[in-house]
Amino acid sequence: MLKKGLSVAFVLMALLFLAVACNNQESKDQDSNSAPTSEKDGQDMKEQPEEDVTLPETTLHKTDQGKSVQSLQEILNKVGYSLTVDGEFNAMTTWAVTDFQMQQEGMPVSGIYNKATKDALSNAIENELSVEPAAGLAKPDNDKSTVSNPHEILTLVNKEHALPANFVPRNLVKPDVRFPFTESLPKMQMREVAAGALEEMFQAGDNAGIDLFAQSGYRSYERQDAIFASNVAQHGEEAANTFSARPGESEHQSGLTMDVTSPDIGYKLTVEFGETDEGQWVQQHAAEYGFIIRYPKGKEDITKYQYEPWHLRYVGQDAAKEIMQKGLTLEEYLGVK
Ligand code: DAL
Ligand code: ZN
Repeated sequence: MLKKGLSVAFVLMALLFLAVACNNQESKDQDSNSAPTSEKDGQDMKEQPEEDVTLPETTLHKTDQGKSVQSLQEILNKVGYSLTVDGEFNAMTTWAVTDFQMQQEGMPVSGIYNKATKDALSNAIENELSVEPAAGLAKPDNDKSTVSNPHEILTLVNKEHALPANFVPRNLVKPDVRFPFTESLPKMQMREVAAGALEEMFQAGDNAGIDLFAQSGYRSYERQDAIFASNVAQHGEEAANTFSARPGESEHQSGLTMDVTSPDIGYKLTVEFGETDEGQWVQQHAAEYGFIIRYPKGKEDITKYQYEPWHLRYVGQDAAKEIMQKGLTLEEYLGVK
């Protein structure tokens, strides 16, 4: 009887042990499917590939804000930068994008986050490549009077922000458009990105039956010096500086500008250009190709130059459309007045 009692007790204990063991296993299985609750689980998660920050699909540029900019900043930090992740496409973010682009062989440098930049960043992340910050372009300093990032498409050049004397844009090319002279001159050149846009604009102008001519693009620091000195000799310094930039202060040095004209006004660069068919067409359509009229009528107190309906500045389509539709200056668009 005692023997039988012991056997029953043994069987019951064995069953109890099995039940507890199964229950433990079940809760382990559940844990492996649920979010980590303990510190250890949290550490295990860190060893897994990190939660992906996805590269933004859209083009982003200076003045843009929001989640996509934040993701871009996080990605730039992953490849080696130390940006504040605040969702503001500010001067530092523009610098990092520009510096990154300058370190990619053959990549057009614009300071704008675009498809090519996205692909290169994606490749850098995938292959765990890091860049050396500032190996392409020195970090911006606090000297606001000299432009610290002359390579970016939205660079602001004016009487308060001069280009460095030694700055010569990369990728200067001659756009395939009409000029009213036959010699091959350095002033025919523009940065490649702007030259391509100008060619498209001229093609559209031809299709619309207008007769645009390009007159003056890239202007070196030394050439600006000579032109300004000649204008000062003719008009006096103050008057000269209402239509002619001091050396370093001309957008023409950026390679992003072209003065355009038409046969109706003898290919001159005068305010009458604004009244010609060509001037009117440019006013209405330049933005579609990424150009703005940089010195608009009525904004002289902001630009500090007289109205120049002929002076086109490339800023890219997004910015150009907003600037021209809202009747802004580049200073207003960038929030710098
Ligand atoms: N005419 C413009 C202001 C320049 O000289 O660049
Ligand atoms: Zn000009």
